[in-house]
Amino acid sequence: MEQAAQHLWWQTGIIYQVYPRSFQDSNGDGVGDLKGITQRLDYLKWLGITAVWVSPVYPSPMADFGYDISDYKGIHPLFGGMEDFDELLHEVHQRGMKLILDLVPNHSSDEHPWFLESRSSRSNPKRDWYIWEDAKDGHPPNNWLSVFGGPAWEWDEHTGQYYYHAFLTKQPDLNWRNPEVQKAMFDVMRFWLDKGVDGFRVDVMWHMIKDAQLRDNPHNPEFREHMPDYSKLLPVYSTDQPEVHTIVQQMRGLLDAYDERVMIGEIYLPIEQLVVYYGIGDNKGAHLPFNFQLISLPWDAQQISSAIDAYEGALPANGWPNWVLGNHDQSRIASRIGLQQARVAALLLLTLRGTPTLYYGDEIGMQDVPIPLDEVQDPQGLNMPGKYLSRDPERTPMQWDNSQHAGFSTAKPWLRVSRNFQGQNVNLLQQDESSILNFYRRLIHFRQEHPALMIGSYKPLYTDQKMIAYLREYQEQRFLIVLNLSHGVCYFEPQMPVHGKIEISTHAELEGSFVKGAISLGGDEGILVRLH
Ligand code: NOJ
Repeated sequence: MEQAAQHLWWQTGIIYQVYPRSFQDSNGDGVGDLKGITQRLDYLKWLGITAVWVSPVYPSPMADFGYDISDYKGIHPLFGGMEDFDELLHEVHQRGMKLILDLVPNHSSDEHPWFLESRSSRSNPKRDWYIWEDAKDGHPPNNWLSVFGGPAWEWDEHTGQYYYHAFLTKQPDLNWRNPEVQKAMFDVMRFWLDKGVDGFRVDVMWHMIKDAQLRDNPHNPEFREHMPDYSKLLPVYSTDQPEVHTIVQQMRGLLDAYDERVMIGEIYLPIEQLVVYYGIGDNKGAHLPFNFQLISLPWDAQQISSAIDAYEGALPANGWPNWVLGNHDQSRIASRIGLQQARVAALLLLTLRGTPTLYYGDEIGMQDVPIPLDEVQDPQGLNMPGKYLSRDPERTPMQWDNSQHAGFSTAKPWLRVSRNFQGQNVNLLQQDESSILNFYRRLIHFRQEHPALMIGSYKPLYTDQKMIAYLREYQEQRFLIVLNLSHGVCYFEPQMPVHGKIEISTHAELEGSFVKGAISLGGDEGILVRLH
């Protein structure tokens, strides 16, 4: 496709997030692994995925399931060996797909040799690789809180100082103001890029630099009891510091020395602050600062439509948009809005302007799986008892078929499989043309075949309490997308003449029919119309 050829793979492609513990177990230990992912690449290819992002697979004590790394250049034996990684990379490339790794530069494990050295004595050369501070009148140096609950400072008896951890005590924050830390992490990035990895999803990018004076964070006047304790304060001084952009620029410079690699930033910030991570002018930042609006906003037509417009309006000149409905930290889309609406959400995700990222299992409509308290694994769930904040429900094993353990493993999985897997699995849904899986697949392939959807312009047309309508255009190719975000009937009378064919619908039986003039949609219905 000539037009799309002027765009890069991370602009025209579709990213799929694999949570490796839960995707496919190949060796019968109940935990997913690299070989398992390789075995399932043909499925991803069938679905139309063009890039796979794998959450961390490095050696780790697994206090935060791999987001606590003890060796940035290795592979955890649970997931396999380096030869399994090389094979995965090779097989991904063989299929014309790309592989994106998770990079966790903000913090390491407390079992990483860097931290072991750092905590060994105040005079250790690596002491300043982490954030160490004296007590203030017998208390922590400031009021900062850990995202996972409790204070963000941990007292180290041996050296008589506190260290800072934005997450678990087992995840000490690296001191990114130290050039040696920068050098070490840039070296890690080169290691994987030299292997041929196509890019990184950078964990908590906006956390990387903290206020040099470590000032107290102000109180959050909007805090309510049901919220996580972390929300008691506004993280004004502990996150999103101006100097973080210099680090992001350096990372980008490093990537740009290679051909066509991508940097995706995990950043939970309001739009105005988020778009700064694209970089300013010649100072380039992340290619894709994750836009989490479809996760954080209520499923409300007016709010979503204004968020789309605000985002489109805020993007810098060369900033490429991106959208995502879910990830391993958030309740699944089908649970948040219901299984029927999940199709409308897929139609939105895959017809908006910008790169879509899918979370494994969402394409089969997987829902959050309730995990009994005595089976909870997630530290965020365990650290804040009484507040149900566990992320386990959205991390359960992929449902492949109706055999025992849903075809995920031959052994008891590390996290229980959904009870409904026999009616909801890849094998079964592949055979049903009207399933959510085949809906996703048709939509993905359709998007990839039509420049108007892949790279065309976006024009909002209409919004009311229930529905959103917009146009996507590229040269003479024009598509009208009309989505009913409610369960009730809705009606739209376009100001312009509308005459066209429904190419894709949440209700497969409507595909191929024609629309003319006013459009009425049933509850949970969405259509993509090719305009004549
Ligand atoms: C964001 C990751 O997505 C999450 O799973 C993890 O717990 C934190 N960062 C800490 O690394």
